[in-house]
This record gives sequence, structure tokens and C-alpha cells, in this order.
Amino acid sequence: MIKSVNPGAVGLVVTEFISVEGLTRNNVKSQLMLRFKEVERPISIQIFGYDIERMINAAKMVEDAGAEIVDINCGCPVPKVVRRGGGCELMRQPDHLARIVESVSGAVKIPVTVKIRAGWDESSINAPDVGRRVESAGAKLIAVHGRTRVQMYRGEADWGIVSAVQSAVHIPVVGSGDVVDRSSAQRFYDSGAAGLMIGRGAMYNPWIFSELSEGKTSSISRRNELAAVDFLLKYIDEAEADEGERGAVTRVKQISGHITRGLRDGAEFRNRLCHSSSLQQTRAILLEWASRSVGSGEELGERIGV
Ligand SMILES: Cc1cc2nc3c(=O)[nH]c(=O)nc-3n(C[C@H](O)[C@H](O)[C@H](O)COP(=O)(O)O)c2cc1C
Repeated sequence: MIKSVNPGAVGLVVTEFISVEGLTRNNVKSQLMLRFKEVERPISIQIFGYDIERMINAAKMVEDAGAEIVDINCGCPVPKVVRRGGGCELMRQPDHLARIVESVSGAVKIPVTVKIRAGWDESSINAPDVGRRVESAGAKLIAVHGRTRVQMYRGEADWGIVSAVQSAVHIPVVGSGDVVDRSSAQRFYDSGAAGLMIGRGAMYNPWIFSELSEGKTSSISRRNELAAVDFLLKYIDEAEADEGERGAVTRVKQISGHITRGLRDGAEFRNRLCHSSSLQQTRAILLEWASRSVGSGEELGERIGV
């Protein structure tokens, strides 16, 4: 959906991380996470884990699934993940990480990329060093989230560290962290990084990719009540087709929390949506909210094509 509302502006889609333990033990949920649609290409599928054999086998499964890229997660701060050696813990074990990258790169034909954080904590910032190590081990791109593991998602992302990694390596570096609009994107432009990755900002404003690609001076924003309803109605259809009514009701509630933030009567809408237990109800609440922005239901139907 992000690609469809930002024609030509999204270069790469990356999946959420998939456990190599799950994948290599034939866990159904993990296998289902390998699915993607043709429109999502080029797509990078991200895996996380510690065991070298399992990382290799999971990367082969990613390649067999048809992904263009396999990405290794070294950024996840969640205790359940780092306790088992995965995610950001790999930044504390750069020798082991280099072995993983080398082994996986030797086992698949598609490019292997790595996502890292600034370091474990403030006193052990090692992203430039880890960047050099994974580049020598065969990584073709590095994505850097400028926070430490200890910071989790608190404080501000440090784009200076993104810059430092780009200066330390010869492969492209993609910066990540806190870009939500044109002015916050300035950190990316100043960093000298090859690419920009947007996470939470895209959940708040799915049109952000077009807005940024239109240039620094344009002030057009596509984010408004009608656009949000249009997006959510299409999202409902996608989610229903993918995981049925119950799953879709929950997902719509999640995404609505971000996309309606700051919009007119958004808080009241979210409150009503909380109590919705069917998609029919969800659609009705959405349309009611949207009709306030345009007046008549007919006019609304014309404008959002329902
Ligand atoms: C709910 C949530 C889930 C995330 N899942 C992943 C993930 O699976 N893999 C990953 O590399 N980063 C993941 N991230 C981190 C983001 O990719 C990104 O680096 C971070 O949120 C900072 O960028 P942002 O401010 O644009 O969101 C996640 C972040 C959030 C908030």
C-alpha cells in the first residue's frame, strides 16, 4: 500500500524480522512471513538469529522465496531476542557476526545486507567498526539506526553515527531514525548517507515518500482526513484478504492510531473504533468520520470512490 500511494518514490521494501529458529524448525507462522506480493519487489527479507548453520539455511529459504536481498538484523533491542544472541547482541560479538555474514554471503547468490544500531550503549559505540567488519565479510549494504540498544526507542537518533559509518565503508549506508517530514529529513541530507529508511513516520504519514521525493522546497502534504479514510478502507480489504475479519479488525485499530493522529476529531474516532468488533462496524465508523470532513455522504462517495 505504501508503494501504491507513493508511485515511484519507494526504492526498497524490507520485511519485519523473521526468526531463523522458526524458519529452520518449520514453524508455520515464520514460513508465512516469507510471503510477499509482486508489487512489493524489489524486496528484502530480514532474518534474525545467532546460530551460523541456521542463519545459512534461513537465508537459503529467503532466496528460494524469491527475495532480491537477505538482510541480517543486528539492531533489535528486545530482551527476548538479545538474550538468545540475536539482534543487537551481535554488535557485542563482532567476530561471530563477521562469521555469520561471511558464511551467509558464501551460501546464497542474492546480496546480503546488515541492519545495525549505533552500538550497545553510550560507552560502546562501535557502528563504524562493525560496519568495516561486515563490509570485509561480504555485506553489500548497511542500514544504521542511530540509537544504542540501551536507548531502545528513547532519545533522539544520532545521524552523526550514520555519517561516521558511511565514511568508514565503501558500500552504501542507509540511515534510519526519526525522519517524519521534510524538516527532519534534513538530517539525512546532511549525513552523506546513500539512502534513507523510514519506519514510524510512514505509519503516521504513508505519503511521506512522495512528499520527500518532491524536494525540500515543496510544501504539499497529502495527509488529511479523507486521504486517511481512503487509505484505511483499502487497508481493510488487504488485511481481510490476508488474515480474515478478526485479524483485520485488530490491524486496522493499530494502524488507525498512527494515521489519524492530529487529524480533526481523530481522538474521538479512535475511541469509537476501539469498540468495533466487525469490519462492517469499522467501515461505518470510518465513513461517518470522513463524512464530517466533506459534508454529504454522496460527495464523500465520489471523492473516495466507494
Ligand atoms: C514497532 C516497530 C517494529 C520494528 N521492527 C523492526 C524489524 O523487524 N527490523 C528492523 O530492522 N527494525 C525494526 N524496527 C526499527 C525500525 O526499522 C527503525 O530503525 C527505527 O524505528 C527508527 O526509525 P523510525 O524513527 O523511522 O521508525 C522496528 C521499529 C518499531 C517501532
